[in-house]
Order: sequence, then C-alpha cells, then structure tokens
Amino acid sequence: MKAKLINGRCISSEIKLEVANGVSDFKQEHRIAPGLAVILVGEDPASTVYVRNKQSAAIEVGMVARDIHLENDISQRDLLEQIEMINRDERFHGVLVQLPLPSHIDKNDVIESINPDKDVDGLHPMNMGLLVEGRQRFVPATPAGIQQMLIRSGFNPDGKHVVVCGRSEIVGKPIAILLAQRMSGCNATVTVCHTGTNDLAGVTKQADILVVAMGQPSFVTADMVKEQVVVIDVGVNRVEDSDRKNGYRLVGDVDFESVSGKAAAISPVPGGVGPMTIAMLLANTLKAAQRLV
Ligand code: GUN
Repeated sequence: MKAKLINGRCISSEIKLEVANGVSDFKQEHRIAPGLAVILVGEDPASTVYVRNKQSAAIEVGMVARDIHLENDISQRDLLEQIEMINRDERFHGVLVQLPLPSHIDKNDVIESINPDKDVDGLHPMNMGLLVEGRQRFVPATPAGIQQMLIRSGFNPDGKHVVVCGRSEIVGKPIAILLAQRMSGCNATVTVCHTGTNDLAGVTKQADILVVAMGQPSFVTADMVKEQVVVIDVGVNRVEDSDRKNGYRLVGDVDFESVSGKAAAISPVPGGVGPMTIAMLLANTLKAAQRLV
C-alpha cells in the first residue's frame, strides 16, 4: 500500500491563515503591524529564494517585511551594526539572518548579537537554553514545523519512538529536545543518530517516526525503515537533471520511491517541511510582536 502524503503546503496554509487572523487582531488592537526584517548576506541562489519566500509570506499574512540585502564582502563589524539598528528599530519585532554566512563572518557572533526578544529563528543561545529547560519561547522554525506536521496529520509523537538522523543546530538537536519534552504534542522517546553512529540502519529500523536531516540526497532507503513508519524528510538537495530547464531538481534525504512503498506516511520534497518552516517563522514573528508591545 502507498503511504499517506504529509502535505506541508496544505498544513502551512492552515497555519498561515491562523497567523493572518492573529495579525488582523493585533493590528486592530495596537494600530501597527507585526514587523519582520530578513537579512541576507551575499548572493547564494538558494538563500536568495528562501529570503524572497519569507518576505512575501510575511506580507501575505499582513505583516510589514523588509528584506535587507548586504554585499558578500561586508565586514563582520558592519553586519553587527546593521543588526543593532534592527534591534533598536521598534517597527521590527522579529529579525533573522539567513544562513549560511560567508566564511569570513563568525556565525555565532552574529546570532548572539540578535536581541533574544526578536530572535524569531530561535537560534540565540538564550532561546536554545529556554528550549532545553522546557520553557520554550521561540522554537526554531523547522523543528516547530515538523512537530505541527506530525500533530496535524494525526501522528502525535506522544509515546512514540522518534529517531532523528542529523545533529545540526537548526534541525537535529532542537527537534530531538522538543519532541522529548514532557508536554502534549511531544513526550516521545527520542534517539539521535548521525555520521558517527555504528549500524545506523539498525537504529533507523526501530523508528515509529523517522526525521531525516542529514543533507545527503536519497540517503534513507526502504531497507532502513520498518513497515508503517512515519517519515519526515527535511533534506533539500539539488541534483543534476538535464530534463529540467534550470538543470537540476530537488530531492530529499529519503529515497521517496522505495520508502513510500513501506511507510504509513511520508512528507515529500518539495512541498513538505519547506513551507512549514516559513509558516512557523511567521507564527514566531506574531508571538514576538505580541510579547514586545
Ligand atoms: N538557512 C536554512 N534554514 C535556515 C533557517 O531556518 N534560518 C536561517 N536563518 N537560515 C537558514
């Protein structure tokens, strides 16, 4: 039997509608719109698309959104100055700096320079610390989106064995911490595996829910999962495809063809986690505005 599709586009539209309603109430009460500033350094083609999508989604739900595009060779000091200006600017309740950054810039210095109250990416150590303590404020958008995908498609992680492949700061670590929390919509038994894991397939086969964020195209194959697993594919990889006008197509970290024959449900790439990340960024921005006014 073919797996149910966990459609991130549909679920994200649902969440964006809820955010738009919240924005409308906020505007009525405060006579201002929630504001989001998105900073992009350089010309990375994928980042340029992500930033444009974030800005247009923010405008779509009624927010004020500014895209601040800086030269690739901007000094770290000038970048920190820009962030400080946004930190002080009352029109912006949320700010994010698109990653990755050019190699001459220290990512950690940049993230730490963001006002934690405006850190709608949830990557500041203060917000990460609150998440670890179970007092989350801004949960990073991709993990928050994955949780919503599971809950809203009828696969509540409560009591399930979730296996996370990947240990990045943006996805692997925070999703593992989030889903292990003692609270509703979490409460899972979580195993994290990564490039240092011995017998990775032996671990992934134990998963009721498998979250894959390894950054390797079609890494997880059918022989690595058990029957009726629920799979969330976080990977976005460009692979060459001469049949396409742009010369590439996007694939996830999961071999969709083979795994969807065995799974109970699976998220596609594209149209899975990607749109959810944007929806949760907007939800965080509304929350930031509500906390700041
Ligand atoms: N680059 C890829 N994903 C993200 C994200 O969630 N936030 C930021 N700031 N950069 C990213």
